[in-house]
Order: sequence, then structure tokens, then C-alpha cells
Amino acid sequence: MIIKSVDLLNFRNYKDLSLIFDSGTNILYGNNAQGKTNLLEALYMSGTSKSYKGAKDREMINFNENEAHIKTIVEKGDREYRIDIHLRKNKTKGIAINKVPIRKTSELFGILDMVFFSPEDLNIIKNGPSERRRFMDNELCQLDKIYLNDLKNYYKALDQRNKLLKDIYDHPELKETLDIWDKQLVTFGKNVIKRRSLFISELKEITTDIHKKLTKGKEELEISYECDSTYENFENRVFLNRDHDIRFSTTSVGPHRDDISIKVKNVDMRKFGSQGQQRTCALSLKLSELKLLENHIHEKPVLLLDDVLSELDKERQYDLLDSISDIQTIITCTGLEDFVENRFELNKIFHVVNGTISDYQI
Ligand SMILES: Nc1ncnc2c1ncn2[C@@H]1O[C@H](COP(=O)(O)OP(=O)(O)OP(=O)(O)O)[C@@H](O)[C@H]1O
Ligand SMILES: [Mg+2]
Repeated sequence: MIIKSVDLLNFRNYKDLSLIFDSGTNILYGNNAQGKTNLLEALYMSGTSKSYKGAKDREMINFNENEAHIKTIVEKGDREYRIDIHLRKNKTKGIAINKVPIRKTSELFGILDMVFFSPEDLNIIKNGPSERRRFMDNELCQLDKIYLNDLKNYYKALDQRNKLLKDIYDHPELKETLDIWDKQLVTFGKNVIKRRSLFISELKEITTDIHKKLTKGKEELEISYECDSTYENFENRVFLNRDHDIRFSTTSVGPHRDDISIKVKNVDMRKFGSQGQQRTCALSLKLSELKLLENHIHEKPVLLLDDVLSELDKERQYDLLDSISDIQTIITCTGLEDFVENRFELNKIFHVVNGTISDYQI
């Protein structure tokens, strides 16, 4: 699949923009603070209805305006889709597919599949478990609408249960109502655990292969699902930890505590990996994410690379660019030197200057 074009109106620092992309490699080049990441954010919104950075809808509307529009044309096989997103300052956003408004944002999923790769992703190994859970959840939500629903309901139940645990501290008689939230927590939590476990076992094979290639056969990467509770024991653990949870006013067990274990030759990369090793592992994980998505949707997703190349050494730049040569890629950068040296084929270069974008000739 490819993104054919995007039109922005009052989105962040873009007043009025129309862009037509190439189906190969597109470079958005410009100085800092010109709007490169903002453009990728708009594209990511079109596929997922959310900001990759976790920004609120109103924050993405131009400071001086009350509404913003994103119109994206996606080509998939011989079909074309038009995705419209209408952001409003004081109302929920409107989304339409081929001019027909949708009621649930999940209806948008599966039209424009993409992988977003930012410099922060290179820290996924070194950072805390929440980053690795986000990695699993982002990918799984794109792949599976049922998972998206289970995850939302799990966090809703967790939130309610935690509120109730705080209330029980002052009103012990409320303890009986805990049953309702425990049931919800267990039902949705078990689904989340089951799906995550399947996802990691699928990802594991791809990651081992990719990592072997990236390290020229020197390193064998082994990832595994490090779940706080298993599908089988979750219910029992919730029950056994009730008094503890009441005492501490928080839910101590469940998939909100999950992690991914990342080992090379049995050494835990999260704790003991060198910076270079951690980055290569992160690169393997991201490239595996891309491959796994491709296997599931039987299409090539779009890759958005936000300023990642400047963070990698020459060898890893080569590895990355080599492995993505056959998909549509939109890359942001502040200089073109890396590409010229790499002799990498660039299909279209755009120059980004203060919320305007023009074609750039080498
Ligand atoms: N809602 C908004 N309205 C207007 N301008 C905004 C809004 N949100 C962010 N901006 C501005 O947009 C500008 C460009 O931001 P962006 O993150 O896209 O820069 P960039 O080109 O990716 O820079 P860098 O190379 O530093 O990553 C920033 O100066 C930011 O303050
Ligand atoms: Mg940026």
C-alpha cells in the first residue's frame, strides 16, 4: 500500500499544504522546528486516529485556529481510499472514509497500515517495561481489533478497580463491590495475556533471523514474553492479592506489569547490553514489527522514519536502508549527506521550511 497524497489545513504549523508522494523513498529535509515531524504525525493520525507522540487532538490544531483537517489518499491494490480527519477544539474529532463518517475509530484500522520509527524507539531496550508494553500494544492494536477492545476494557477495569481500592480504605463496606471489577479485570486481562503471548512467539522467529543478519551471524537474539501473570494463574493471583491490594490501594498483578525479555547469549540486554548492542536489538525489533505486519496484512505497510538515520552509525544505516528498499518510506532528516554517501536511491526529496514544503532537486 502507498500514501498517494496528503492535504493539511491548520494542522500544527501547516496552514494549507498539499503533497503528492512517490511510491518509493521520500525524503523530508529541513532545519529543526520546520514541521517535519508534524507531517509524519498527520500521516500517523490518518492510519490510527491517534498522535504517535500521545498529543491531545486540540494540541494538533494550529495555535490560532479552532479546527484542523487532514485528508489522505491511500492506494491499496487497485483500490483507493480517502481518509478525512476533522479535529475540533472543543468537540470530539470526526473521521470519514471515502466521505462516509465512521462511528467507531476502530473502523479506521486496517486501511492505512504503517510502522513509525523514531529516535525514542532506539531506547526501547534500555528504557523501562512500559515502553516495551507500548511496542506490543501499538502493533497488536493495528493487527487485531478484538485486542484493541480487550485492552481498552482491561485498562478501564483496572482504573475502576484502583479507584475502588482507594475508596475501600475509608469505606471498608465497599469491599463486596470489588467482585465486579475483579471479574472484568480477569476476563479482559486473560485475553490480553493470550494475545500478547502469541504475538511474541510469532515475533521471536522473525527477530532472531533479522538480528542474525544485522550482526553478520555473530549474535543470537532471543526475545520472550515476560508476563506478570499467566493465562492460567491470573484469576487466582488477583484473588490471593486482594488484601495486599487494599492495603496499598493499587492492583499489584496483571498484564499492566508485563515486559519483553531480550537476551543475547543468555545475557539480559535490558540491563547488560552495551549501547550499540541495545540499538541493534531495537532495530531488529522494529524491522521485525514491519515484517510481521506485512505477513498479516499480505501487503507492504508504509514506513515512517523520523530522524532515525542520524542516530545510527554508518553500518547500521546501511542495514536499515537495505532492508526497506521495496516499500514506501517517508524519511525525515536535517541533512542529505547520509544519503549521498550511501548512494541510496531517493525517489523524491521535499524541502520543509516553516510550515511550507517544496520539491527539491539534487
Ligand atoms: N498546534 C501548533 N500550532 C502551531 N505550531 C505548532 C503547533 N504544534 C507545534 N508547533 C510548532 O511546529 C514547529 C515544527 O515542529 P516539528 O516537530 O515538526 O519540527 P521538526 O521539523 O521535526 O524539527 P526537528 O528537526 O527539531 O525535529 C515547532 O516549532 C512547534 O513549536
Ligand atoms: Mg522532528
